[in-house]
Amino acid sequence: MRKVIIAGNWKMYKTQAEALEFLQGFLDHLGETPNDREIVICAPFTTLGTLSKNLHGTRIRIGAQNVHWEIAGAYTGEVSAPMLTELGVRYVVIGHSERRQYFGETDATVNLRLKAAQKHGLIPILCVGETKQQRDTGETEALIVGQLEKDLIDVDQGRLVIAYEPIWAIGTGDTCDATEANRIIGLIRSQLDNPNVSIQYGGSVKPGNVDEIMAQSEIDGALVGGASLAPNDFARIINYSCSQLG
Ligand code: PGA
Repeated sequence: MRKVIIAGNWKMYKTQAEALEFLQGFLDHLGETPNDREIVICAPFTTLGTLSKNLHGTRIRIGAQNVHWEIAGAYTGEVSAPMLTELGVRYVVIGHSERRQYFGETDATVNLRLKAAQKHGLIPILCVGETKQQRDTGETEALIVGQLEKDLIDVDQGRLVIAYEPIWAIGTGDTCDATEANRIIGLIRSQLDNPNVSIQYGGSVKPGNVDEIMAQSEIDGALVGGASLAPNDFARIINYSCSQLG
């Protein structure tokens, strides 16, 4: 069974105080959320400890936004999987396009991070997706198939989430058409050995479009950036409903 997973990606937003303020506005809405949805907040390293303490006993899972492949060593600025699991972190975003674009992340390092995360009990959320230029020149399918091929070498597909995030739709308000996202996610699924991997869509998911996105047959969840920062918006997203769609 494919699990529905809605994850907020806070990127480099929120101090500890701001994270606590968010929870005050957000937690009340959880009572309305169907039990079969996994809710995750992927926060900066500095707020993970605070979130862990304050979310203990709730159904919200905590995610990080990166992890190194070694357990310890001379790697200034990096954080290892045991450091995350000690804090109660369950998920970790790996290979986000912002890491690939601004911080030199390659398919080879993504692969190392995925394997290390799994080895230490974290569930990776692997991000793949094309640029605007790649889309315009018809390279989308080949690019995504290539990313999956390289990123997933020796990765356990039994403990994996994938997020399809077209780069041109991230933070731009320019959402990928839901049926097109559904088509690409179907393509991603066709490349996997395990048909039960949850595959999310990410890129300008908002309260106003989440119902249509989640109504698609191949889409198992969302990775939400900007709209996960406001408690009411993120609450509306986790409480999406496909029933009113005509
Ligand atoms: P966005 O970001 O929702 O702000 O477009 C999504 C992401 O980068 O994961």
